[in-house]
Amino acid sequence: MLSESEARDAIIVALDCDQRRALSLAEALEGRARWVKVGMTLFYGEGPAIVGALRDRGLKVFLDLKLHDIPFQVRGAARSASLSGADLLSIHALGGPDMVREARAGVEEAAVEGGVRDRTRLVAISLLTSMGQDSLTEVGIDAPVGEEVARLAGLAVGAGSDGVVCSPWEAAELRTLLGPATLIVTPGVRPQGANAGDQRRVSTPAAAIAAGASKLVIGRPITQAPDPAASLESVVAELAGV
Ligand code: C5P
Repeated sequence: MLSESEARDAIIVALDCDQRRALSLAEALEGRARWVKVGMTLFYGEGPAIVGALRDRGLKVFLDLKLHDIPFQVRGAARSASLSGADLLSIHALGGPDMVREARAGVEEAAVEGGVRDRTRLVAISLLTSMGQDSLTEVGIDAPVGEEVARLAGLAVGAGSDGVVCSPWEAAELRTLLGPATLIVTPGVRPQGANAGDQRRVSTPAAAIAAGASKLVIGRPITQAPDPAASLESVVAELAGV
């Protein structure tokens, strides 16, 4: 069971919307939400200024850009993302250990340049959950999905990623494999009674935390609720057992 403060810190609200809506949600959730997620759609539409605008409202930002390029390019991108103020940044483990090491070097460089004590932390995506066994075989990888996820997650953390992004269903195995200090971020979380929408392998917030998740990404159950603040509070209550 988490304390109320730990529960708030464990929830990342996915702002999959335009800037106006993102800022109005940030206002509605002020003092309640601690973390928000900015994905590619919002970032490419609004640019790095959106990160600063959210941070100015007291929020920590998970910049979900899923970086995947040659190591040199990823180092520069990670540095820029970090200088924009991102607290957490996603990369693809499939870019390989050199790419992960350069991403780490990029965020460390930015922390020195920006004179900040808490550098941007990195989380690696092993395989997109949209990739099933068939698509894995199609791209020439013969291993079972579960094995591949564990292998890539271990490789990314070994090369300097602070954590991984995975489905709640993989959290327990990866927690055992990667140890207690690794950040495990899980989307696909649905509070009891919420509509699963297009998510398939869903889990409740409490079950995901019990499985070993450090942070939960929750989008539409909060952002599309008639009262987003009340919906966030009910997840906090579920996690903190109040
Ligand atoms: O609205 P919902 O709670 O489904 O949003 C979940 C967020 O997590 C979205 O921003 C989505 O892009 C992201 N995500 C996901 N499943 C993954 C990886 C990321 O739903 N496997």
